[in-house]
Amino acid sequence: MNETALVRLKLHWFRSHELAEFELISEPVVLFGANGAGKTNILEAISLLAPGRGLRRATYQEVGQRNSDQPWAINAELKLPDGDFSVGTGLDGQSNRRLVRIDGSNSTAGALGRLLRQVWLTPAQDRIFSGPRGTRLRFFDRLVFSLFPDHGKAVSSYEKAMRGRQKLLDEGSSDPAWLSGLEQQMAGFGANMIINRDQVILRLRSQVKARNDSAFPQAELELQSDADLAVTSKTEITEVAAWLLDGFAATRNIDAKAGRTLSGPHRADLAVSWPAKQMPASDCSTGEQKALLVGLTLAHARAVTADSNSSPPLILLDEACAHLDVDRRAALIDELCQLKGQAWLTGTDRNLFTKFANKAQFFEVSETGITRA
Ligand SMILES: Nc1ncnc2c1ncn2[C@@H]1O[C@H](COP(=O)(O)OP(=O)(O)OP(=O)(O)O)[C@@H](O)[C@H]1O
Ligand SMILES: [Mg+2]
Repeated sequence: MNETALVRLKLHWFRSHELAEFELISEPVVLFGANGAGKTNILEAISLLAPGRGLRRATYQEVGQRNSDQPWAINAELKLPDGDFSVGTGLDGQSNRRLVRIDGSNSTAGALGRLLRQVWLTPAQDRIFSGPRGTRLRFFDRLVFSLFPDHGKAVSSYEKAMRGRQKLLDEGSSDPAWLSGLEQQMAGFGANMIINRDQVILRLRSQVKARNDSAFPQAELELQSDADLAVTSKTEITEVAAWLLDGFAATRNIDAKAGRTLSGPHRADLAVSWPAKQMPASDCSTGEQKALLVGLTLAHARAVTADSNSSPPLILLDEACAHLDVDRRAALIDELCQLKGQAWLTGTDRNLFTKFANKAQFFEVSETGITRA
């Protein structure tokens, strides 16, 4: 029996769904149906029960139903180890801003993110190992964010201060007080980012190691950066901040010349490899890369479950079985059944999920609606 689950979900005017309603128990949920039926849209709606733009990174305007002026809304009943909560979010038609409610009171997306943790995997992440560094770093920061909900704020505040500093440098401003004020902000938020990321790498490594019987590869993870400061578990955040501050002050001239900030935590990269094959993830086959990614997602879900500050996460897996062979599909389902958070899976064919037997709730999604199957 899962400790974290959605036991009711209702979407209004959300993308292709004018109205979609689910009455659930805490077991895993499988959504199957033809291409374009609206399966991913449902996972995307769940992913908006968190701060940010959800698993497609869409704007709040984009997720509203096209050709309708009705504002979209998502409401859910949540079962958590601490009790039951009624949560909701949607667009306020008047202000065009997102509203969040928890147990009938106005709240914030941040509060929702602290209450309900989520882990997700989408087909767009399939190219994460061979794609651009910035996309990979954003993917990793999302993993960090489910363990440290304030990480997102640290990243956005760091980037804002960095843009401000770069603007001053581009304009040739030499106001040292202004520059160093912004650099102090960058150093403070940047140190936070470095420490959070380092913690998450350690936790992911230990979760990967803990399942050396897994059918998914034992990935090796490392966060590479231009920083030559070795952060250990004993490094104080103030030390990191002081070191960053010195670095920013020393690179004003070269950053001014380059027109961008050449060093700092925004330049980090996540390096993933498969040590048993002595292969960087980017050189693995499509199916192997998917297996590495699924393994990393499961390790992430276990790391969130093990975190004493959080409840087990909801696990949203869009098309996760697509490139997996039959043994790995069965292994994925076995591992999901051992986690304490409800998993939501999509696929075009119900047969991809036979290993669940009667341990999951199946729904067929079609243009005409959603039917329990
Ligand atoms: N804002 C919107 N308003 C109305 N319909 C939309 C909106 N955005 C997307 N759609 C439509 O929603 C439909 C379902 O999309 P979705 O991605 O959920 O399909 P899916 O079931 O996941 O399909 P696949 O198996 O191909 O991944 C698509 O036909 C898409 O064009
Ligand atoms: Mg889809």
